[in-house]
Amino acid sequence: MRKIYGISNVIAADIRELKEARENGPFERLDVTDGMKLSVTAKRHNVDTIIHLAAILSAKAETMPLKAWHVNMVGLINALEVAKEMNLQFFTPSSIGAFGPSTPKEDTPQVTVQRPITMYGINKVTAELLCDYYFNRYGIDTRGIRFPGLISHATTPGGGTSDYAVDMYYHAVIKKAYISCIAEGTRMDMMYMPDALDAIIQLMEADSKKLVNRNSYNISAFSVAPEDFAKAIRKYIPEFKLDYQIDLVRQNIAESWPDSLDCTAAKEEWGFQAKYDLDKTTEDMLRKVEENMVNKNSEMKGKSS
Ligand code: SER
Repeated sequence: MRKIYGISNVIAADIRELKEARENGPFERLDVTDGMKLSVTAKRHNVDTIIHLAAILSAKAETMPLKAWHVNMVGLINALEVAKEMNLQFFTPSSIGAFGPSTPKEDTPQVTVQRPITMYGINKVTAELLCDYYFNRYGIDTRGIRFPGLISHATTPGGGTSDYAVDMYYHAVIKKAYISCIAEGTRMDMMYMPDALDAIIQLMEADSKKLVNRNSYNISAFSVAPEDFAKAIRKYIPEFKLDYQIDLVRQNIAESWPDSLDCTAAKEEWGFQAKYDLDKTTEDMLRKVEENMVNKNSEMKGKSS
């Protein structure tokens, strides 16, 4: 976003002190559950848009459901209130987690049954409804995407059910082997981070009048199970070994989610199109993870010498 909109026009915020974000441009340390600070910060920078991403993800939320409710819901309503106060454009992601076992699994429609069985999923359905409410009641330009599992080399796994994919790439590079907590044959929608970032920007730039399903759009790049990642990895690391040791919490969550989403509404209403398929994602991930490891090793050597 800084490349597109200018460094000083994108204010990064996180509850942690992120050295890299601070070095790259304006950065604020912010806890989304602190509504007052959120409001003061937004006003100080005179922002015109909020991209509200902070959340506790699905598997972690099951270990602390009340905290997840607090961070995911109080954080969201605080951000929506600031958007209302300042009449901002607003984005927050929903997720494949907003669906449940009674949702059709294949080609999951844009508008369908949403009865999730996780705290995270309940938070996401509530978030979709709240965003609709702020749009209909106050005219706030809210927009959202139901993200599939996102694969990124820049962030390490953070408590998501789909995070096993990121973990597998790191283990493939470091150990040439991985033990999956998700069972063979369990398919999920996934997407490489550059496509997810492009999708947010494309949706936010889209003509508001065309957005019938504004909160929130199904999108996906590929629908895969653990063994599909392994097969793709073996094209580059032929000796890669995949074993299984099922984590029941994560497995239950994964089984309650769709196998593949129908993304027609996103394509028709704002031109969604993913660039990275599984092979392109794998090639890029393995290269970037390798680079990250080389950089980390040379940093460690620098410190010890
Ligand atoms: N990637 C998220 C998770 O696994 C889903 O939105 O929790």
